Amino acid sequence: MSVLIKGGRVVTASDSFVGDVLVEGERIAAVGDVSGASADTVLDASGKLVLPGAVDPHTHLDMPFGGTTTIDDVTSGHEAAVFGGTTCHVDFCIQGKGQSFADALGDWHGKREGKALIDMGYHIAVTDLSTHGRLEELASLPEQGITSYKLFMAYKGALQVDDETLFRTMQVAADTGALVMVHAENGDAIDVLVKEALAAGNTAPVWHARTRPPETEGEATNRAIQLARVAGCPLYVVHVSCQEAIEPIALARGKGWDVWGETCTQYFFIDETFLERPDFEGAKFVYTPPPRAKPNQEALWRAVRRDELSAISTDHCAFLWDGQKTMGRNDFSKIPNGGPGLENRLHLIHHFGVGEGRITLTRMVELLCTNPAKLFGLYPRKGTIAPGSDADLVIFDPAKPKTIRAADQHSKTDYNLYEGTNVKGDVETVLVRGTVVVRDGELRVEPGYGQFVERARFGEELHRETAPSAR
Ligand code: URP
Ligand code: ZN
Ligand code: ZN
Repeated sequence: MSVLIKGGRVVTASDSFVGDVLVEGERIAAVGDVSGASADTVLDASGKLVLPGAVDPHTHLDMPFGGTTTIDDVTSGHEAAVFGGTTCHVDFCIQGKGQSFADALGDWHGKREGKALIDMGYHIAVTDLSTHGRLEELASLPEQGITSYKLFMAYKGALQVDDETLFRTMQVAADTGALVMVHAENGDAIDVLVKEALAAGNTAPVWHARTRPPETEGEATNRAIQLARVAGCPLYVVHVSCQEAIEPIALARGKGWDVWGETCTQYFFIDETFLERPDFEGAKFVYTPPPRAKPNQEALWRAVRRDELSAISTDHCAFLWDGQKTMGRNDFSKIPNGGPGLENRLHLIHHFGVGEGRITLTRMVELLCTNPAKLFGLYPRKGTIAPGSDADLVIFDPAKPKTIRAADQHSKTDYNLYEGTNVKGDVETVLVRGTVVVRDGELRVEPGYGQFVERARFGEELHRETAPSAR
């Protein structure tokens, strides 16, 4: 099968030009003027953008967390993803306490098999290294294409690890070429603040933010950076929400250290006052780190412009408001932490970032597609438009108006963080490995089409020839 996408504005991290994209089988065959070529399917993209499929490096599908399980499984999460222009993502596989990584990965492959619509990989979330042989097992994971290790420095009593576990993992990563990712908050200090708030009778959702001050994020970010420096591993700080965490990352990057930071869509748009919404509506915005004071939003835009932060993810971790978030009606610490977002990232960053002049179109592609692919060992197979790359492509109409509404979304959750927001720009057609998966508002593939992708080690490229796995 071949597809010719004609006359669109083709945008990569470095270029933007009007041209054609020829797809043969699963890959891009040619880019530029291919007017002599014929194809089984011809898609007219004049007046539209042709973007690389977006890559989301931070999602939580079908994940047990906070006394419940995230509401989007792999299929509904992927539906949300494709209608939001995302064609590949890396999800967190969580090691249970005492569990082997092999068993954890077995669980996560089981959640995916027969259900995926798009391609995906896993980060391993390390929670327990106490069993004999576990460090050696961790060291073997990059051979299976699991090339990033995630550690939670918060969520005491659940996912949080101590500094020894963090540092030992960093040492393994320095040896194996994996990238260490951290959720950087001081979980011990936060635990004290949460207990004090509850003891004083402060149970409302807004106390989620009041017990996680930005300094606890800044402190943990700096600690992780310094420890990574000692261990000699590369570090990626997830979901940066505030100036206090941007600063140590910017400082480290200024020194040329191997440190990267990511923020998420929600931190540009939602501030701490959303948590004060009446009738427990504030619980919809309980995610971690919490929504911050409004000035942080401009600080984040500045940071993504200056490459102090290098990627924008969604941290999609969706729960129902009615039935899951409401578990914390009388105690904010029992509200499952997380929010939906897989479907909204491209629309919002395009409209408010590019449309309102905060970032360029090429920088948007770099932040949403190319950098996540490069940092997580998917590039150049994913994250760009070039001959030989997977034909993961989005035809995006930059002029089409859209109102973001829960009623229209594909995620199974019952609310949307951006309810009623009007944007200009919508996803028209999506291809994953050369197959049209979305067209005319319809999903056109069956669960099982998506593949597991074995990722390259940090700093290495992923080409089809070196990527034998398609499970
Ligand atoms: O609130 C959040 N972010 N939930 C997902 C888990 C995490 O910390 O990323
Ligand atoms: Zn986190
Ligand atoms: Zn997360």
